[in-house]
Amino acid sequence: MKKILITGANGQLGRAIRKEYQKESGSVHVILTDMTESENISKLDISSLDAVMSQVADQRPDVIINCAAYTNVDGCEKDEDMAYRANAIGPRNLAIAAEKTGAKLFHISTDYVFSGTADKAYDEFDIPDPISAYGRTKYAGEQFVRDLCTRFFIMRTAWLYGDGINFYRKMMELSEKTDKIGVVEDQFGSPTSSSELARAIRYLEPRDEYGVYNATCEGQCSWADFAERIFKKCNKSTKVERITSYEYKNRFPLSASRPKNSVLDNRMFRLIGGGFVMKDWKEAFDEYIKENV
Ligand SMILES: NC(=O)c1ccc[n+]([C@@H]2O[C@H](COP(=O)([O-])OP(=O)(O)OC[C@H]3O[C@@H](n4cnc5c(N)ncnc54)[C@H](OP(=O)(O)O)[C@@H]3O)[C@@H](O)[C@H]2O)c1
Repeated sequence: MKKILITGANGQLGRAIRKEYQKESGSVHVILTDMTESENISKLDISSLDAVMSQVADQRPDVIINCAAYTNVDGCEKDEDMAYRANAIGPRNLAIAAEKTGAKLFHISTDYVFSGTADKAYDEFDIPDPISAYGRTKYAGEQFVRDLCTRFFIMRTAWLYGDGINFYRKMMELSEKTDKIGVVEDQFGSPTSSSELARAIRYLEPRDEYGVYNATCEGQCSWADFAERIFKKCNKSTKVERITSYEYKNRFPLSASRPKNSVLDNRMFRLIGGGFVMKDWKEAFDEYIKENV
C-alpha cells in the first residue's frame, strides 16, 4: 500500500489534503504529523534533521507532502531565524530524507517569492526576487529542495484559505466588531481554496513530471474585491473602505511589504497537458462558503 507522510497536517492545507486522501482510504496509508501532537497526529518538527531522518527511516513513505511552514508574514519580519528554521531548514531536512529513501517530495511555496513589480502574471520560469522575510525564507526553502532532492514538486500558491487562520476568517471576525473595514485595493492576486490546491497535488502525485508548478485558482481580484465578495456571500452589511498599500502601511507601520502583483500563471499545468485546470476563484470560494458556513 502506498504510504504518504504529511507534515503540518493540522494547518489549512494539511487538513484539505487529509480530506482529499480520505476519499481513497484503503488504498493509501496516510501518516499525519505536525509541530504539536494531537489525536491521530504525531509530533514532527521539520526543523530538526534528526527527527525528520528518524521518522522517514521508520515509516519509509513513498511520498512526503510538506504542508508545514511559518506562515505569519508579519511575524517573519520580527523573527527571521524562526522563519528560516521552518521555511528553509525544514524543507532542506525533508529533501535530504526524501533523497536518501527515494521518496517523492511535495513542497509548498508562495507568490511572495516575487516582488510583485512585474506588469504580467508570474510564471514558473520567472526569477524570484522576494521583498519580505517570509518571501526570502520560502525562496531559500525552494532552493534547498531543488538542490538536494531529485524527485520534487514545488507548488507555488497564493492567498490560501481553508480551515484555519486566513483572510476570510479575519474579515468575518472584524465584521463582528466594526461596520467599516479598510482593505487594500492595489494588491492583486488569486484567492485559492485549500481544497483546490489539495486536488492539484493529488493530480500530480502519481506522476513523475517533477518541477515547479504554480497552483492558484483562475482569475484575479484585489483584497478589497475579495472582502466585498466575502461580505456579499455571507450577507454582512459591513462596508469595505478601499485603501492603498501606502495608507495601510501608515496605519500598520510594522507590517511586512507585500507584492502588489501576486497573480501567478499556472503555465506548467498547461505545458504538461492532461487538462488539469484549477477552478475560478469565485466558483471555488462559493463552494467553500456552501460547505463551511
Ligand atoms: N496561507 C496562505 O495564504 C499561503 C499563501 C501562499 C503559500 N502558502 C504556503 O502554503 C503552505 C500551507 O499553508 P497553510 O496556510 O496551510 O499554513 P498553516 O495553516 O499556517 O499551517 C502550517 C502548519 O505547519 C505547522 N508548523 C509550523 N512550523 C513547523 C515546524 N517547524 N515543524 C512542523 N510543523 C510546523 C504549524 O503548526 P503551528 O500552528 O503549531 O505553528 C501549522 O500546523 C505553506 O507552505 C505556506 O507557506 C500559504
